[in-house]
Amino acid sequence: MLNFVMYVSDVCAPMAQDNEQMVQGLIDIERTAKQRNRHLNITGVLLVDGGHFIQLLEGYREDLDTLLASISRDARHTNVSILMDEPISKRAFGEWNMDIFTLDVKPELKSEDLHRFRDCYLANEKPNALEVANWVRRLIKHPEIRFGEVSA
Ligand SMILES: Cc1cc2nc3c(=O)[nH]c(=O)nc-3n(C[C@H](O)[C@H](O)[C@H](O)COP(=O)(O)O)c2cc1C
Repeated sequence: MLNFVMYVSDVCAPMAQDNEQMVQGLIDIERTAKQRNRHLNITGVLLVDGGHFIQLLEGYREDLDTLLASISRDARHTNVSILMDEPISKRAFGEWNMDIFTLDVKPELKSEDLHRFRDCYLANEKPNALEVANWVRRLIKHPEIRFGEVSA
């Protein structure tokens, strides 16, 4: 069964405190992720927003659990909190191999969808995987927020 997982976490020092460390850290994470996720048949994207990570992962249960075990003991972030973990019938990010997007580059992009998303949680109406995927897919259409293109 394919599953969709989304978590948020807090970026730790030194990445959180120094932009050069942040850039280097993201380069390292993306490099590792792109290699390992291919083996684990995991797709998704990683968003960075104001000192937080938001990661969307799609894959089969066993592979997701293997990866989440690694991710949750990674000292580069803390307070890993899984917001969604649910079965899906098909991948929404099948063509994405853990590219990183930095939302701070264009804050106006995230406001409308992010607020709707937050309001859902506040009202205790959990959005489903498809809604979240659609929101994120709209965001990542903007090339300016793609990490790597920004720092290049
Ligand atoms: C926010 C964040 C996201 C990450 N995403 C992935 C990922 O999608 N795939 C991956 O293989 N490693 C990812 N990593 C790196 C893993 O935490 C871990 O270092 C790596 O998979 C090696 O696993 P190991 O430490 O168990 O050997 C991520 C790390 C962080 C901090």
